[in-house]
Amino acid sequence: MQKKKVTFELEIYNSQEELSVLDRELMQAAVLARENAYAPYSGFKVGAAVLLANGEIVIGNNQENASYPSGLCAERVAVFQAGARFPGIAVKTIAISVNSVRRVVDTPAAPCGNCRQAIAEYEQRQTEGIEILMMGSTGEVYKSASITDLLPLAFGKSYLD
Ligand code: THU
Repeated sequence: MQKKKVTFELEIYNSQEELSVLDRELMQAAVLARENAYAPYSGFKVGAAVLLANGEIVIGNNQENASYPSGLCAERVAVFQAGARFPGIAVKTIAISVNSVRRVVDTPAAPCGNCRQAIAEYEQRQTEGIEILMMGSTGEVYKSASITDLLPLAFGKSYLD
């Protein structure tokens, strides 16, 4: 029997002030996007900002629906918009900020499983890893260098060859 240890790396910053200028700008775009989330049912607002290799920033926020499963998370709204508007351009970084209308969220939230899978598809189509920055509305910021840190053993198109 063989055992394999899968490790996962995360950088932890005390606050967004500690980020590089570029990362901080991207996080600010996510914070602004978050405010325009349509989340009347959960009251949980999520903003995402995607930095592309051509320098463009594409934003997304969660879009809920009275028929709950018809809504979509901020991360997928953002990466799908990036894919639609700038096909074939690599994704460098995705910044995510969350908050609730009921309380101030001061801990980062990682993307849900469906969003990790969607982001993994983009990463598998390019050579560089996609950096993920995660923050509440304030407080610590987590940074991972690749979606594989958040979704090890991801399913991908190679299985379908
Ligand atoms: N949500 C996101 O936008 N991203 C995530 O990664 C987790 C959850 C949204 C979906 C729904 O509108 C609300 O947060 C509560 O689940």
